[in-house]
Amino acid sequence: MVDLLIIVAFNRYIPGYLRELQEGHVEELNLFKSQLNTVRYKMECGEEVPLSFGKYLLERQKQLELSDNETAYLAGSMFGAGSDTTASAISISVLAAACYPNEQLKIWEELENVVGRDRAPTLEDQERLPQTMAWVLETFRWRPVTAGGFSHRATRDVTWVRLEARRFNRSP
Ligand code: HEM
Repeated sequence: MVDLLIIVAFNRYIPGYLRELQEGHVEELNLFKSQLNTVRYKMECGEEVPLSFGKYLLERQKQLELSDNETAYLAGSMFGAGSDTTASAISISVLAAACYPNEQLKIWEELENVVGRDRAPTLEDQERLPQTMAWVLETFRWRPVTAGGFSHRATRDVTWVRLEARRFNRSP
C-alpha cells in the first residue's frame, strides 16, 4: 500500500510526455552511435581517417574510461550543438541579404576583392573582411539564434578590460 502511494505521489511530478522523451533519447543515441561507428569501422579496417573529434575520442576511449554511449554522446553533442545553430545562422544571413540588397552588394564587393571566386574564405582573410564580419555580427544581434539566452553568474569578482562582473550575492 505504501509502495502504491509512493508511485501515485511520484507520478504527479513525471510529465506525460516522458515516453516521447525516452524514445527521442534512443533515436538520438542510435544516430550518434551509428555516426561514430562509421569512424570506428574505418579505423579498424586500417583506412586513412582524417583528423576529427570522433577519431580523437576513439583513440583514447580506454584511457579516458568512456563507455561506448558516453563516447557517442560526446562526439554527437558537438555535432548537435553545431548543426542547427549554424544552419539557422546561415538562413538568417540569407534572409537579411534579401531584406537589405544594398548592404548585400557591399559584402559581395568586399568578398570579390579580398577572396575572389577561385577559393573559399579562410580565417586568415578575416582581418581584411571588416564589412563581412560586421554583417555576420549584426545578423547575430538582429535575429539571435538562441533568442532566450542563458543565465550566468560570476562565482568571483572578475574584471575584464573595462567591464566588471561582481560575484553573485543574493543579499542586497
Ligand atoms: C552560429 C553558430 C552557433 C551559435 C549561435 C551557438 C550558440 C551557443 C550558445 C548561445 C551557447 C551557450 C554559451 C553560454 O554558455 O553562454 C553555446 C555553447 C556551446 N556550443 Fe555553440 N553555437 C554555435 C555553433 C557551435 C558549433 C559549430 C559547435 C561545435 C562544433 C558548438 C558547440 C558548443 C558547445 C560544446 C557549447 C557548450 C560550451 C560550454 O558550456 O562549455 N556551437 N553555443
